Amino acid sequence: MRIAVIGAGYVGAVTATCFAEFGNEVVCVDKMEEKVKAFSQGEPPFFEPGLKELLVSNLKQKRLFFTTDIDTAIRDALVVFLAVGTPPRGDGSTDISSIIEVAKIIARNLDGYKVIVTKSTVPVGTTYLIRDIIEENKKIGVSFDVASNPEFLREGSAIYDFMHPDRVVIGAESDSAIAILKDLYRPIYLRDTPFVFTDIKTAELIKYVCNSFLAMKISFINEVANICDIVGSDIHVVARAMGLDNRIGPKFLHPGPGFGGSCLPKDTLAMVKIAENIGYDFKLVKATIEVNNLQKERAVSKIVEVMEGDVRGKVIALWGLSFKPNTDDIRESPAVYIAKRLIELGAVVKAYDPAALENAVSEIDNPNFIPMEDMYDVLKGSDCLVIATEWSQFRNADIERIKGLLKKPIVVDLRNVYEPENMKKMGFIYRGMGRSLKE
Ligand code: UDX
Repeated sequence: MRIAVIGAGYVGAVTATCFAEFGNEVVCVDKMEEKVKAFSQGEPPFFEPGLKELLVSNLKQKRLFFTTDIDTAIRDALVVFLAVGTPPRGDGSTDISSIIEVAKIIARNLDGYKVIVTKSTVPVGTTYLIRDIIEENKKIGVSFDVASNPEFLREGSAIYDFMHPDRVVIGAESDSAIAILKDLYRPIYLRDTPFVFTDIKTAELIKYVCNSFLAMKISFINEVANICDIVGSDIHVVARAMGLDNRIGPKFLHPGPGFGGSCLPKDTLAMVKIAENIGYDFKLVKATIEVNNLQKERAVSKIVEVMEGDVRGKVIALWGLSFKPNTDDIRESPAVYIAKRLIELGAVVKAYDPAALENAVSEIDNPNFIPMEDMYDVLKGSDCLVIATEWSQFRNADIERIKGLLKKPIVVDLRNVYEPENMKKMGFIYRGMGRSLKE
């Protein structure tokens, strides 16, 4: 099958590469020449485990192409996936101007039947809007269908998630569109992956609801961790007992400095907006966002408290800058928020991250933010260590070495990477999230 994927961001590039891996001929389009050039040379412009290998192999087999020529890509394709950016506006609503622009381009290139599929997370009703724009602007007599096929992949495990999804959601309202999309997903369909076929607006809604629920689960466990801190209970025991209830499940019950990334923060805000627009006040999602904002600030307070109430002139070693491990993405990263706030409060932050250092430097750009290439170098002479992202190399760190390098053995472990008992035995002043032992 010939496919065009419009947009070579995370979702677009992964979708294009994986559909090529399924044996389709895929053309991925982006406006940015540099991005197209990088992908065409087998060099993804961002870090995603496994992507480079799959990209190189499919480029070699001439099943995958990257181009800026959107017109030809659309004309040659039977299925066109829209994976362009849908950034948040200041008020939390979603900016769909790129989607509208592409819909118009599709209309002028519609020379035969095609299925136009939204892969980007778009507000409920957007796919119908695309249908109307194409209908208004296309040549008379050519037919097309629209469909919604939201993507649930996580950064850091995007390829695995695409190939082994928990489910595939397809919102389509014509037999031909359903048949074509079923055929496209055949390799996954054959593996007994559950498929949810529904109408278009329901498929669009499902994506927001899933991300809002995941965010709510994180905010919930973060609040429980805060309570554990006060009463002296261990959040890991509480979360384990909760997770053993099949109705709750063990995943997304890890406390931390708040959720970040390109999806959960944006999609929760959009969910509230979508509800507002239809006259519904979605209180739980609003609270989820509020708790998340407070959680980032609570993490800062934890650091300030352990520094005896004042970080002015203090040097803080920070491990982790990406919003989660295995990615160089710092969008809405709690780690970056914490670094900025500590600097604002008068501290110097010496930071290390295995992948996100460069991105963080352009974002933070302050003389009191000192990026370093070695995780132990940031510790030399620092007043404390803060762990903000749970990269596995931090789990396996040499604890004695940490102790020897820091001015005072203080660790604020915002991801609960270490065992509080061990740290205490080794002579550390240790703060975790919801499992700090009383001194
Ligand atoms: C998320 C959704 O999981 C995915 O289905 C959707 O398609 C895109 O958004 P992603 O943003 O890549 O994926 O990361 P995810 O693994 O969901 O983590 C999001 C944030 O929540 C991270 O900052 C992470 O550290 C935090 N998190 C996650 C927690 O604090 N605790 C948890 O238990 C899980």
